[in-house]
Amino acid sequence: MPIDITRTLWSPQGRILHGADYCPEQWSPDVWREDIALMQQCGVNVVSIGMFAWSFLETDDEKYDFGWFDEVVGLLTRAEISIFMATPSGARPAWLAQRYPEVLRVNKNGQRNGFGFRHNHCMTSPQYRRKVAAINEQLARRYGHLDQVLLWHVSNEYCGECFCDLCKAAFREWLQRRYGSLEALNKAWWTAFWSHVYTDWSQVEPPTPHGEPQLHGLNLDWKRFTTAQTVDFMQAEIAALRLCDQTTPVTTNTMGIFDGVDSSKICAELDVVSWDAYPRWHDDAKDEVLVASRTGFWHDLNRSLGGGKPFLLMESTPSILNWQEVNRPKQPGMHRLSSLQAVAHGADSVQYFQWRASRGGPEKFHGAVVNHGHTANSRVFREVAELGQTLAGLGELSGATTPVEAAIYFDWDNRWAYEDNQSLRNDRKGYIEEIETWYHALWRQSIATDLIVEEAPIDGYKLVIAPLLYMLKDGVAERMTRFVEGGGCLLFTYGSGWVNDSDLIFEGGQLAPLRELLGIRVLETFVHRDHERVAIVPERALSALSGDYASVDLSELIEVEGAEVLARYGSQYFSGTPCLTRNRVGRGAAMYSGCRAEAAFVNDLVADLSESLGLATCWPCALPEGVHARQRVNGDHRYVFLMNFTHHTQAIPLAGQEVASLDGVSVSDESLSLKPLGVTVVKVGHTGEPKPAAAMPRPLVSTKS
Ligand code: GLA
Ligand code: ZN
Repeated sequence: MPIDITRTLWSPQGRILHGADYCPEQWSPDVWREDIALMQQCGVNVVSIGMFAWSFLETDDEKYDFGWFDEVVGLLTRAEISIFMATPSGARPAWLAQRYPEVLRVNKNGQRNGFGFRHNHCMTSPQYRRKVAAINEQLARRYGHLDQVLLWHVSNEYCGECFCDLCKAAFREWLQRRYGSLEALNKAWWTAFWSHVYTDWSQVEPPTPHGEPQLHGLNLDWKRFTTAQTVDFMQAEIAALRLCDQTTPVTTNTMGIFDGVDSSKICAELDVVSWDAYPRWHDDAKDEVLVASRTGFWHDLNRSLGGGKPFLLMESTPSILNWQEVNRPKQPGMHRLSSLQAVAHGADSVQYFQWRASRGGPEKFHGAVVNHGHTANSRVFREVAELGQTLAGLGELSGATTPVEAAIYFDWDNRWAYEDNQSLRNDRKGYIEEIETWYHALWRQSIATDLIVEEAPIDGYKLVIAPLLYMLKDGVAERMTRFVEGGGCLLFTYGSGWVNDSDLIFEGGQLAPLRELLGIRVLETFVHRDHERVAIVPERALSALSGDYASVDLSELIEVEGAEVLARYGSQYFSGTPCLTRNRVGRGAAMYSGCRAEAAFVNDLVADLSESLGLATCWPCALPEGVHARQRVNGDHRYVFLMNFTHHTQAIPLAGQEVASLDGVSVSDESLSLKPLGVTVVKVGHTGEPKPAAAMPRPLVSTKS
């Protein structure tokens, strides 16, 4: 039963959390004291501790040493800095790996890893689970009751797979539970192909480069199993904490759209979702605005994975990364803008990796709030301190929610199956790019969007977009039909509706379960030469669209079976045939866009659709390109974030609204001005004090006493 985070995470007045990963085990007590004073200088009100401290907390088997940690906790408590208490399972001590070699992973080629790195543990190993449970229980017993401990931060960025015998056995058991019989498994994986039929469970091996790398059903199930094993491991970690602490909420920090594990399954088990955001700002190869919209997509995904509740930005860099090919520091203003962007999209915290830059190790050049030799005298520190002040003024919007009317499917099973297929265009699968294109079309109009998995309910939305929804799981077509009949607008793209949950092509071929809903049939797919464009010509029903539109890479040839044609191809041997259709069903419409359309078409189509569907935008008039508005709502109060992702000043018309700036930006009667990379938060309409609404958090202390 998830814990109601609104009761525990925030103070009665509400506050946005601000802090960092803090690794006191790397520093002496003198430095701890200096750190805490510096934290207070820059408005840090919470730190995550302990995630990589196992060697210091358990110096040898069952030899625990919490004395130094007690001191750190005490110093933080006296400074009124709250704690996200991490469990240390992400990296294990050398003695542990030496004593229990089974805890280390086995790679794809069957070779056991040596000690080292992190995320190098088998999720199945009973010895590892036992040792993790023991240290977690110790931590929970010692610190779980403290008011200062706001949250359990279990492990760190769960990821990775293991091919040891224990994992193989667990995989076979998982398959037995899923399929019941080998016959069912053989059917689901279509093992008749190349005579791969299994006659005994022991013959089933994980996919490996030197064994079976191409059985798509196996590949997919292995990824699902890896997620299931990760979730099971996480649940075991949580169960150990719960032995001594039933009230402190739990999170783990996930990695956005990372494809190695299905984050939706992890997030379903958490009290609050948190994630680590590392966009590549100022990336020369790409437009800043596209990086902004991509980052917005990641934040929205995390809000959606938490069921729409506020999430936590658990990590971000205050300045630079050190693990990309080229790592460009955030330019002045970018830190404030990117941090408030997270809050705009629903985050109730801004946290960094890390507080103090390490002197050694692989991340010694990674950005940190306190840099080598500079302490408080750096641009980074000053910008963090300024942000701390801004966040302190935004407390009233903690817990505020995000009204959303549009959703885009983003589903891990679908992505895994689609990206694994060997089909027409293996050089440019483009799943993420397709989602980004449709997301961007909504983003540029400041329309809030959820990113949803196939299992998610869709009833409340006005528009649902299904880019490359290659896999249709059981029950999804029925849910979609009800949605459309009830008045929703559903839009699929090319490449959708090919396979079932087991990655088997539907009997009846592409779109078989959706043929009636869409009122079309796909006949064949034209594969473009690189850069070959096929014109898209809108019909009269789309007369508002008047650009130079084209498809690239892939164009499906469509035959309508009752649907209306909204646009046709304008060149090639199929010139004049449909490429965009709409089928009115019940009170809604099911649309199909049969080609990989360039952004201009997607942008204009989505603008037209959102107008006809009456989708609410976050600002009442059009904003300049590169300026994005987002709103959060708390009781009767509406807070709008206006964010300028361009490098020039932008005037934002107020369009008759009464607004009050929460962060000191001057507002005239007609407009407000945003500096290059500027951002401001305004309260719109009711500008009085917020009501103590039911959603407002209660004092932390009440939950643990
Ligand atoms: C991840 C990890 C951190 C650190 C950062 C560096 O998010 O969780 O421990 O390695 O990356 O960017
Ligand atoms: Zn293993």
